Amino acid sequence: MRSSPCAIDELAAALRGLGGTLQPVKVAAALREMSVDLRTLAPFVSWCSGRYTRNLVTRTEAFELVAICWDAGAHSAIHDHADSDCAFVVLDGTLECENYRLALAPDGGSRAALTRAGTRTLAHGDLDVRSGHLSVHRVGAPAGRATTLHVYAKPIDVCLAYDEDGTPREVRSVYDTVPR
Ligand SMILES: [Fe+2]
Repeated sequence: MRSSPCAIDELAAALRGLGGTLQPVKVAAALREMSVDLRTLAPFVSWCSGRYTRNLVTRTEAFELVAICWDAGAHSAIHDHADSDCAFVVLDGTLECENYRLALAPDGGSRAALTRAGTRTLAHGDLDVRSGHLSVHRVGAPAGRATTLHVYAKPIDVCLAYDEDGTPREVRSVYDTVPR
């Protein structure tokens, strides 16, 4: 059962308390049980017309906690999750998650076979959990502005993005805002 709303700092402290290697099931439980009061996220909220912004809340060697603010119609590239586990929760609005099946080129070629494997709509409190290179999706907010909270363990500095035809490219993660 969901507890009463907590501050973003409390969630950050709980994640730090999970130690040097965060188990995905424990991260998911924390996100599920600790309902972050959106008002406490205000210092980490920024908006940019037509795209999403990535706003760092806190980062350790074990994980990064990032608030993502999606402008209406904004969406990510099709992407993997490097060697990390990723979980996110919707705090406001709705998100659309397009899942892809990925088959790496057997001949060692660079192009992968990407097949769309369904779409899921996530509303307030819903979670999405990902792990590693084979977990590929595209996330967007076609229905209007949305805010999500993401835990990457360990932090992702570079991941692969894919064109629709399966051509990969390395993408370096950037933050639009960092804590003062
Ligand atoms: Fe993702």
